[in-house]
Amino acid sequence: MRRYKVSIIGSGMVGSTTAQCIVQKDLANVVLIDIKEGIAQGKALDIWEASPLNGFQGYIKGGSDYALTADSDVAVITAGIPRKPGMKREDLIGINGDIVIGAAQKILEYSPEAIIIVVTNPVDTLTYGVYKKLKIPRNRIIGMSGMLDSSRLRSFIAMEVGISPQNITAMVIGAHTESNMIPLLRLANINGVPLNKFLGQDKMEELAKRTRLAGAEIVGLLQTGSAYYAPAMAITEMVEAILRDKKVIIPCSVCLEGEYGLKDCALCIPVVLGREGVEKIIELDLTPEEVRWMNEGAKVIKEMIGCMKI
Ligand code: NAI
Ligand code: 2OP
Repeated sequence: MRRYKVSIIGSGMVGSTTAQCIVQKDLANVVLIDIKEGIAQGKALDIWEASPLNGFQGYIKGGSDYALTADSDVAVITAGIPRKPGMKREDLIGINGDIVIGAAQKILEYSPEAIIIVVTNPVDTLTYGVYKKLKIPRNRIIGMSGMLDSSRLRSFIAMEVGISPQNITAMVIGAHTESNMIPLLRLANINGVPLNKFLGQDKMEELAKRTRLAGAEIVGLLQTGSAYYAPAMAITEMVEAILRDKKVIIPCSVCLEGEYGLKDCALCIPVVLGREGVEKIIELDLTPEEVRWMNEGAKVIKEMIGCMKI
């Protein structure tokens, strides 16, 4: 049976950690690409040298030549520059826009059918930018945001209530920005028991606020870059859902064509992820306040899209 192939563009902290997660789960052969060839080669070799210990059956290679990526099933774009202290995700648009569209173009040259996961920030804006510029069917261009934001929210709830994070269901939708992220705590539950049986409104609002600021919390602590362990696991969950055709509901940034009354932008909403990428978009019944947040998020993302060369 043919092994799947995943290419990761950008072999920095998020890209290389994602490669390691994919290899440890033995999901696919992996190719790491970076503008700095030695970084991609060195990290791929380092990860490969652990294969006798982790039981990885495939290969991992690195370099700067996109020919290495030929026939990829999934490509993950993490190339770009990360946030530094004091920077908002939105500050990254100019530099990262050119990098991500260029990378997506080269991926499609060698793997015309690949499903592309955009990670580089500002993720919603860049996801839409790639869709618009390269005219990829929207089921095949997906931004990673909600999986990470939801995992953070679930982990914070778990810390608060002292129950396993795996028992906690909670979802974050909206934009991957501090102001327009929407933690849907009213739908959160612990193995089916509504969260408000465990936590009062004030505590839930505190956790929602921490989730919105979670990226900045890590940036503030690290001082030299942004989060990568949780992002890498979130990406790996998405890659696994696609390759194994799991058909699981995952909140992802997708290009909207009228869903939630919105179009001409990408925002995070729950979708069914499977072998075709986004196989179904789920339209939740939102409260008037959540609708207002979604609309505000769309406005912000559209303004940023307006700054892109597309
Ligand atoms: P990093 O700086 O460690 O890695 C970025 C890598 O991209 C570097 O190795 C760099 O050499 C490479 N690169 C730059 N230009 C390139 C090009 N044209 N072609 C190929 N490679 C190129 O950064 P890190 O921490 O890995 O973050 C990567 C991106 O992911 C950032 O934009 C960050 O904000 C974003 N991010 C997004 C998350 C999300 O939830 N969507 C979560 C975490 C990070
Ligand atoms: C995060 O949320 C920087 O977007 C990245 O950690």
